[in-house]
Amino acid sequence: MIGIILGTRPEIIKMSPVIRECERRNLDYFVLHTGQHYSHEMDRVFFEDLDLPEPHYNLDVGSGSHAEQTAKIMTGAESILLKEAPDVVLVQGDTNTVVAGALAASKLHMRVGHIEAGLRSFNRWMPEEINRILTDHMSDYLFAPTEKARENLLREGIDEKKVCVTGNTVVDAIYQNLDISRKKVNVLRDLELKPKEYFLVTAHRQENVDNRARLKDIIHGLESIRKEFSMPVIFPVHPRTAKRIDELGIGMDGIQLTKPFGFLEFLQLEAQARLVLTDSGGVQEEACVLGVPCATMRYDTERPETLDVGSNILVGTESAKILEGVRSAACRSNHWKNPYGDGIAGKMIVLVCAAARSN
Ligand code: UD1
Ligand code: UDP
Repeated sequence: MIGIILGTRPEIIKMSPVIRECERRNLDYFVLHTGQHYSHEMDRVFFEDLDLPEPHYNLDVGSGSHAEQTAKIMTGAESILLKEAPDVVLVQGDTNTVVAGALAASKLHMRVGHIEAGLRSFNRWMPEEINRILTDHMSDYLFAPTEKARENLLREGIDEKKVCVTGNTVVDAIYQNLDISRKKVNVLRDLELKPKEYFLVTAHRQENVDNRARLKDIIHGLESIRKEFSMPVIFPVHPRTAKRIDELGIGMDGIQLTKPFGFLEFLQLEAQARLVLTDSGGVQEEACVLGVPCATMRYDTERPETLDVGSNILVGTESAKILEGVRSAACRSNHWKNPYGDGIAGKMIVLVCAAARSN
C-alpha cells in the first residue's frame, strides 16, 4: 500500500503523475489531502482539470501559523497512517504539509519517500528551506529531480543508496496536459491576448509579499514594465498576495489582476507568454520546460539548473532591477535544454515504491 500525502496547489499538480501511475497499474494506494489549500481555485480546480480521483481523506486543516498548521497535520495524519499502515508514504516538495506528513510517518517507523528531494536555496529565512532539509533527512527514498539536487544530498551526508535521480514530475504533468489544455481551453481568446505579446506574473513568497516595502517595489516594477513594453501584464493573484494587496490599499496602474487560474489555463498562458515574472518554484521550472524566458523576483533560487541553462535570471525585488532584468531576458533566445528530465519521473517513483512494498 502506498500512502500519498498532499495539501497545496503545487503538490496536487506535481503529485498528479504519480497518482495517475498508481491508477494505471491498479495499485493499492490512498491519497490524504491535508486541506492546507482549500479555496476552489487553489484546490478543487486541479482535481477537475487533472481528472484525479477524490482524495480518500481530507484533514481540512486550513490556514494558520506555521506551528499550528504543522501540528494539526501531524495529529490528523497519525491516526490515518496507523489505520492504513502503508508500506511507504510519499510527500512532494517543501510545504508545511510535506514536513508534517513526513514527520508523522517517520515517527511511526514508516518509510518515507520525498519527491523533489535535494533542492537548496541556502537561505534559511525561507520557511520552505527548513521544510526541505528536515524532510530529506527523515526520508528513506530521496527522489532527486537532477544531478545537482543529488549532490546537495550527498554533501549533507545522506547515504547515496537512498537517492534516485528521476527528473521532476512537473515535466510529466506538462507533457500529460499540454495537448488537453489546447483542446479544452482558449484562455488567450478569453483574455484578448496575442501570443508572445504579454507578460505573465505570479508572486506569493512570504518573504516578498508579507513585506510591504518589497511588495510595493514589485508592483512598481510591474508598472514600469507595462509602460516600457506597452504590452498587457497578466497577474493571477495568490490568496496570500490578494490579502496583502488589499491591506496596502494601492491600485496597480495597467496591471490585469485576475483570480488564480486552473492548471490547463495557466499552462497555456505560460506557454504563450513573452516572459514570465515570478517568485514561484514551480513556475521557474515550467517556464524552462516550455521554452519561455523567466525573470525570478528573488535573490536566490533552489532551481539553479534554470540559471545554468539560461532560461531564468534572478532580478531581485527592486523595481529598477526588475525592469532592467526583463529588458535583457525578454530578448534571449530560448533554445536551452530542459534539465528536468523526460517526463517519466512519476513512473520511476511508482516503480521504486512498488518494489518497496514487496521488501
Ligand atoms: C504555501 C507553502 C509554499 C507554497 C505555496 C504554494 C508553506 C510554508 N508554504 O504557501 O511553500 O509555495 O503554498 O501556493 O507551506 N489562503 C486562502 N485559500 C487557500 C489557501 C490559502 O485564502 O486555499 C490564504 C489564507 O489567508 C492563508 C494564506 O493564503 O493564510 C497563506 O496560505 P498558506 O497555506 O499558509 O501559505 P501559502 O502562502 O499558500
Ligand atoms: N499555477 C496555476 N494557476 C495559477 C498560478 C500557478 O495553476 O494561477 C500552477 C503553476 O502552473 C505551477 C504551480 O501552480 O504548477 C505553482 O504553484 P505555486 O507558485 O503556488 O507554488 P510553488 O511552486 O512556488 O511552491
